[in-house]
Amino acid sequence: MIKGNLLYEGKAKTVYETDNPNELLVYFKDDATAGNGEKHGLIPGKGVINNKISAFFFKQLKDRGIKSHFIETVGEREMLVKRLDMIKLEIVVRNIVAGSLVKRLGLPEGTPLNVPVIEYDYKSDELGDPMLNRWHIMAIDVATIDELNQIEHIALTTNTILREILKAKNVDLIDFKLEFGRDISGDGEVLLADEISPDNCRFWDTQTHEKLDKDRFRQDLGGVEEAYQEILHRLTL
Ligand code: ADP
Ligand code: TMP
Repeated sequence: MIKGNLLYEGKAKTVYETDNPNELLVYFKDDATAGNGEKHGLIPGKGVINNKISAFFFKQLKDRGIKSHFIETVGEREMLVKRLDMIKLEIVVRNIVAGSLVKRLGLPEGTPLNVPVIEYDYKSDELGDPMLNRWHIMAIDVATIDELNQIEHIALTTNTILREILKAKNVDLIDFKLEFGRDISGDGEVLLADEISPDNCRFWDTQTHEKLDKDRFRQDLGGVEEAYQEILHRLTL
């Protein structure tokens, strides 16, 4: 595999083309942003840890029948992935009230939800990633009803699998954000993409409810790098 031209410089990752037009190289950076890019910082070693945690989860999901863009890890901070036609949505799945849902529902952080809640945010930096519902998404051709049904099925199954894996490691999965893309080199099937890491999940220690994710950075709680390291350690040891 030969690293090619820079395709996209994101907030947490950089994406490169490769000598295979259907494959991309994703480089995980230490950069961290919060509040739509208003807060910026570095979490030393984050890129290495997130590359490892994401690869771990994508492999576990594959073993349980969930396909993703992940092909293989090719370096400390790099993974080779299938090039997808990304769907401009962030799909949030919630099990416990936290983050923006505290304000929206007026419920205390930590309140259990009777069923997992799915939310859609429109991936648009200019608009500040507004929340959409299925009707908006279909009305402006962001995704079709068939794609939304595939996305919801994969998102809920992924939730069940991740909760089970994490529970065995004494970690509660509070909520998480996924991204999906269309496999245009194949039949257009919707595949799980991007990353699954403490950057886009909320992980709490089951007993102490200690936060082991990016909320430590968002809320200036300290011990950010140690929390990311702790999750990697619990998952892989
Ligand atoms: P952001 O765009 O929010 O700054 P990142 O820094 O994580 O996010 O950048 C990674 C970018 O790569 C995201 O825009 C994501 O949608 C995109 N991406 C993730 N997986 C794939 C894939 N398999 N094919 C094409 N693009 C992808
Ligand atoms: P929220 O409570 O701030 O809406 O976030 C819900 C989940 O989605 C949480 O695990 C963090 C993740 N998330 C992202 O990964 N990227 C984002 O831009 C936002 C707003 C949330």
